[in-house]
Amino acid sequence: MSLQKIIIAIDGYSSCGKSTLANELAKRLKYNYIDSGAMYRAVTLYFLRNNIDFTDHGEILNAIANIHLTFQFNELNKQSEICLNDENVASLVRDMLVSEKVSEVAAIREVRSFAVAQQKRMGKKKGIIMDGRDIGTTVFPEAELKIFMTAEPEIRVMRRFKEMYAKNEHITIDEIRHNLELRDYIDTTRDESPLKQAGDAILLDNSNLNKEEQLNIVMEWVKQKTVNQLI
Ligand code: DC
Repeated sequence: MSLQKIIIAIDGYSSCGKSTLANELAKRLKYNYIDSGAMYRAVTLYFLRNNIDFTDHGEILNAIANIHLTFQFNELNKQSEICLNDENVASLVRDMLVSEKVSEVAAIREVRSFAVAQQKRMGKKKGIIMDGRDIGTTVFPEAELKIFMTAEPEIRVMRRFKEMYAKNEHITIDEIRHNLELRDYIDTTRDESPLKQAGDAILLDNSNLNKEEQLNIVMEWVKQKTVNQLI
């Protein structure tokens, strides 16, 4: 007997470990994992490369018409990587220049409509895990399992710092703290689909959990939801 496939929506603050959890879950469940933040980052990269004025709606619409986003599965790291007009930009979109502007771009209504429409299409066949800020509230309000992730701010700062340090990025702890605080502020206060916990989302505070512990907790939730589907 095979379990019915569901949609898993993971939302939460920046650097809470959403993608780490989503990746591990996807491997265990053999689901597709889509990092919706990478889509907003790729749009930001395109805007920066083409000097798009973030306040000019006509220019933004023209730019969006020239953007084609896809995901390419990388067999080496077993991850779906974002492509901007057929160019794999997975590492470029993690650049600090993109991180500094992405929340501003993600708050633009036209950008959100473009990304959300594509994200909704990706969920048609279920068997998908998507993480972001509005997945449980806007993209997949019908998702069977919704998780809202959080962790103490200083823990998130140190996790991000270690990640950047490992990549040899020269950035101070203060710069990271400032970037995370600013992104949280813009993401939670914007007019368009601000980050908030869906009424039916389960809260997961992973401040004191290691990766294995958090995965085990969530796998239990997945089991409950997929078993419920069969009843
Ligand atoms: O998850 P991330 O840090 O890569 O996301 C980058 C930015 O994109 C983040 O500051 C907020 C925005 N974002 C969003 O508004 N909605 C999503 N579904 C995903 C990301």
